[in-house]
Amino acid sequence: MNTGHEAEMKAAKVIRMNAGRQIAVAGHRKPELEGPSDVLVRILCVGLDGTDKEIITTPYGWPPEGEDELVFGHEMLGVVVDAGKQAGLRKGDLVTMIVRRPCHDPACVNCRNGRADYCQTGAYTERGIKGAHGCLTEYVKDEDRYFVKIPPACMAYGMLAEPQSILEKVWDEVQRIQQRLVWEPKRALVLGSGPLGLLAALTARCLGLDVHVWSMDDKTSPEARIVERIGGTYQQAPSPSSASGEAGREGPASLTDYVKRQQAPFDLIWECTGFSPLAFEAMSALGPNGVLALLGISSGDRKEDVPADQLNLGMVLHNKCVIGSVNAARKHFETGIYRLQQMEERYPGIFRSIVTERITLADVPNIDFGKVKIKTLVDIVPEDRWAEMAKAASEAAYSFSV
Ligand code: BGC
Ligand code: ZN
Repeated sequence: MNTGHEAEMKAAKVIRMNAGRQIAVAGHRKPELEGPSDVLVRILCVGLDGTDKEIITTPYGWPPEGEDELVFGHEMLGVVVDAGKQAGLRKGDLVTMIVRRPCHDPACVNCRNGRADYCQTGAYTERGIKGAHGCLTEYVKDEDRYFVKIPPACMAYGMLAEPQSILEKVWDEVQRIQQRLVWEPKRALVLGSGPLGLLAALTARCLGLDVHVWSMDDKTSPEARIVERIGGTYQQAPSPSSASGEAGREGPASLTDYVKRQQAPFDLIWECTGFSPLAFEAMSALGPNGVLALLGISSGDRKEDVPADQLNLGMVLHNKCVIGSVNAARKHFETGIYRLQQMEERYPGIFRSIVTERITLADVPNIDFGKVKIKTLVDIVPEDRWAEMAKAASEAAYSFSV
């Protein structure tokens, strides 16, 4: 009920979205339950990703209509503190939040069918990214259908269900596409070793694939060590300025060169850097009948010459497929949670090694993405208090044959 009394909470926002963006921690209206299906969630932790960096440093991201600031952050773990009578969640349930909200166009068949991730009008909103405030604050309120239960056993890494949902969606799509032939993928290539790239590499291992990771990080970097620990092959890419094949370098001069040196083709490529020239290079690097999944956000306006004839010819003669994929639906969060559990069982402590920085809400304005090693988590509540706050009435158990 709105009592007219407006309680405030602290939030990390990008202020002046339309002129010289800057991060600030400031007061923000605390939400209250309104509808019978609403749920009020205390946020425990928020993961930061490349999209957050884009929102802070580029024109990507949009404030709610009529405002000039955006509470950002969309990878969250929280606990239900209050729920409307008709809500399917109860106090104490651990949850993560689905990011996208449907547009209101009656003709948008995907939004009208629970698949706002395929919104056709572009008028969707995304909490913490586009037209709606996000999670770098103390509480969020929304309808129960936008939250997904996290089993208490996954509490430590439940905030990663969101990035993992992106990989589950595209894997779901890839499987449907590849029904076009008899497909027995063996080798996957991941471009980029940021959090999404590392999760992609882990996903590939869980799927029983050999995985190679191509990234600019040094071969002694924590990213490279993680790839090696999970049985993948890490290859340091030359920096773009030196990529045109310097004489005397022992490593491959380019992605194309690296792929040429391989004994076998790559059946699947996940592009997780958002560096658009690499997306085009990956089209020729992809093996016959393969799929290239583009997942990186590139909000700049880079222009690049591409070998258009050769690319087109290769795509046609080898039945290649390129798919762009964004966001995810509830089922991908659920399979994502299940897959994260598998990863942790298979490689104990793996998520602790991906999370390289933990900060508090007050530290957010000082974040320097250039210095973040792999992934930053923002602990809104200190981790040692999460368990006592999350006394779930019922245990959610996800079980899929993935
Ligand atoms: C989020 C997606 C979102 C996309 C584009 C990603 O970081 O994980 O949910 O759709 O950014 O805004
Ligand atoms: Zn729509």
